[in-house]
Amino acid sequence: MELDVKATSDPDIDPFGVAKLAAHQVAERTGVPHHDVAVILGSGWLAAADRMGDVATEIPVTDLVGFPAPSVAGHAGALRSIAAGPKRILAFLGRVHMYEGHSPAAVVHAVRTAVMAGCRIIVLTNAAGGINREYSVGQAVLIADHINLTGQSPLRGPTPPAPFDVRFVDMTTAYSRRLRDAARLVDPSLAEGVYASFPGPQFETPAEVRMAAQLGADLAGMSTVLETIAARHLGAEVLACSLVTNMAAGLEPGEINHEEVLTVGRQSAEHVGGLLAEMIGRL
Ligand code: HPA
Repeated sequence: MELDVKATSDPDIDPFGVAKLAAHQVAERTGVPHHDVAVILGSGWLAAADRMGDVATEIPVTDLVGFPAPSVAGHAGALRSIAAGPKRILAFLGRVHMYEGHSPAAVVHAVRTAVMAGCRIIVLTNAAGGINREYSVGQAVLIADHINLTGQSPLRGPTPPAPFDVRFVDMTTAYSRRLRDAARLVDPSLAEGVYASFPGPQFETPAEVRMAAQLGADLAGMSTVLETIAARHLGAEVLACSLVTNMAAGLEPGEINHEEVLTVGRQSAEHVGGLLAEMIGRL
């Protein structure tokens, strides 16, 4: 019997084919052939989903091909189709990370699915440790650039199929200036920073934080960069925003834990959620 690899549901084997199939399922399940903006809500950002508009449909991501269930507290694993005025938003409530044992292809599957479902704008949110001493806990910071310390890329592997067969993706303007300017119309005080992505799941050592600071990083996190690379490869614009849930290791006395990250997320949810919802309304 011949093995039909195209019949796979594994994004590692056929990442673009599986994303296309998942996008088709999204259209079918939501009854919406074309979504405009996708939002991926990381730790601490879930409340934002309730502020973005009228929820038309909610489905567990595991109903869609190629999506593993998230295993991290604070990541719900649902997909909402939201009507916000004339725009249709696809909101992923939670993401999966490489530190859960997932491949780069699995980590970026939501982004690829969203782009193939029509989204030309991808909004990525996350929780991060503040490296820049001017930041304070609870603050939202726009990501202006990143340093990929994961050593991974979702583009590693065979040449992607046409029309996505460009490997050498330009990252000069990975985080759209236009979208950052639009976000600042909502909140002119929003700071911008460079996000360094560590592999995790352990938090950084103080020495690693000092290293990242010397490299020019303002924020430390464990997500986002692979998703940005995948979005740029498919030609979508990226807006990314970190919620500073703690100061990075060694900057303040005491230890860091995930509960603290979630607690700060919950405390800031109303404010940052409203901010995000308003930003998206204006994109
Ligand atoms: N480091 C990495 N990721 C994080 C942190 C941190 O300090 N806080 C929240 N996510």
